[in-house]
Amino acid sequence: MKKRTIIAIAIVISISVLGIVFTQLFWVKKSLDLKGKQFDNSIRIALKSVINQLMEIKNDSVFQEHLYKLSCRKVKLDVTDFVMPSTLDSLMHEEMNSMGMTDNYYYGIYNKLNDRFATGHLGNKSKELLKSPYQYSIASIFKPGNYYLTAYFPTKTSIVLRQMEIWLLLSVFFIVIVIISFVFVILTILQQKKLSELKTDFINNMTHEFKTPLATTSLAAEMLLRPEVTSKKEKVNKYVKVIIDENQRLKNHVEQVLEISSLENGKKDYNFKETDIHELVKLVVKRFELHLKEKNINLTLKLDATRHTIKANTTEIINVIFNLLDNAIKYSPSNTRILIKTRNSKSGIFLSIRDKGIGIRPEHHKDVFKNLFRVPTGNIHEVRGFGLGLYYVKNVIDYHHGYIELDSQPGRGSTFDIFLPFNNKIT
Ligand SMILES: Nc1ncnc2c1ncn2[C@@H]1O[C@H](COP(=O)(O)OP(=O)(O)O)[C@@H](O)[C@H]1O
Ligand SMILES: [Mg+2]
Repeated sequence: MKKRTIIAIAIVISISVLGIVFTQLFWVKKSLDLKGKQFDNSIRIALKSVINQLMEIKNDSVFQEHLYKLSCRKVKLDVTDFVMPSTLDSLMHEEMNSMGMTDNYYYGIYNKLNDRFATGHLGNKSKELLKSPYQYSIASIFKPGNYYLTAYFPTKTSIVLRQMEIWLLLSVFFIVIVIISFVFVILTILQQKKLSELKTDFINNMTHEFKTPLATTSLAAEMLLRPEVTSKKEKVNKYVKVIIDENQRLKNHVEQVLEISSLENGKKDYNFKETDIHELVKLVVKRFELHLKEKNINLTLKLDATRHTIKANTTEIINVIFNLLDNAIKYSPSNTRILIKTRNSKSGIFLSIRDKGIGIRPEHHKDVFKNLFRVPTGNIHEVRGFGLGLYYVKNVIDYHHGYIELDSQPGRGSTFDIFLPFNNKIT
């Protein structure tokens, strides 16, 4: 997939997720409004019902008689004679209870002309009660019509929210899941893309690495067919040597690829033998003699370890040293130096290979040990390779219970430091 397509998909999905979030917010807001209105309605009905019941009580003949008697004693009847505080309390209590509210509500009857309360359960909420939207005239019970029944609910918002709680939580939950999955999908796509680029590079490199020796051998073989060549022994020898060398190169390539795939299949050979690291170093160095001469690289050995035999898989340790030295030569210019050192610690042996080559930028120090990774140098790699070597090295060192460290600065060179323990737990 092209980077542009991935970005386009990411943008489309981001916009869609944002759209969903906004739509969801819109609906949540709408439902909250609706629930708020429902609440208002129930309160309105409850308060109206209280007023109706008060009116019925007032119109009752027994109460009328009581009022009549009262009016004989008193010069002027006031509102609490018509709406008795205890009656109001019990009616309000009943209505609120039927709405499922046991506390946290305030009510009162007040005179709109002077904002004075005649009765009620005011708490310290007189101000809020005066401003409350739930206000109903009780003119039908007590004239003149300046008296109002008012109520206030400080927990209205939380009551409404609580009714929607489960839906709000579900919305948030699903949106978070969608966002997490989206990020995960995009990251996976990017990772896959990187991997597929690495694989394409690898195939290109491999094709090249296989084509060159094949072309050379076929050329050499053709030469061997020519009579002017067959007649001269040293020429025959030269071409046969070319064929053998190139054949060896091909074999090395195939082996490198096969080693990696067997490592990845988990086929580890735990048949460890006593292995002399110094001997292996010398053996590998011998193989590179020609290379070193060609590039005029001065290789110094400082094999200081006094105990240099460990239990290990000999072939694999040879490959490790081979890969590291191969890199040191490949990534160094001509006329430089390479230093191979060994030393002991209490529990094992350190082997370090230092070059004065191109070096590796710090941000790639971790990556170089990854499968197929090669330090990007634009489209053309001057130095051919598969990006398998260090991955192999790291795997082998790991399963020998050792470790590898890299110290490198671009332009100044690199040092790969390997530690291998004397005692492998597995043996
Ligand atoms: N000694 C070194 N100096 C500079 N760069 C190195 C050195 N060794 C490894 N590298 C970088 O690490 C990458 C991975 O190395 P490796 O796994 O051996 O793959 P390959 O050598 O086939 O490219 C190389 O492509 C190179 O960019
Ligand atoms: Mg290499």
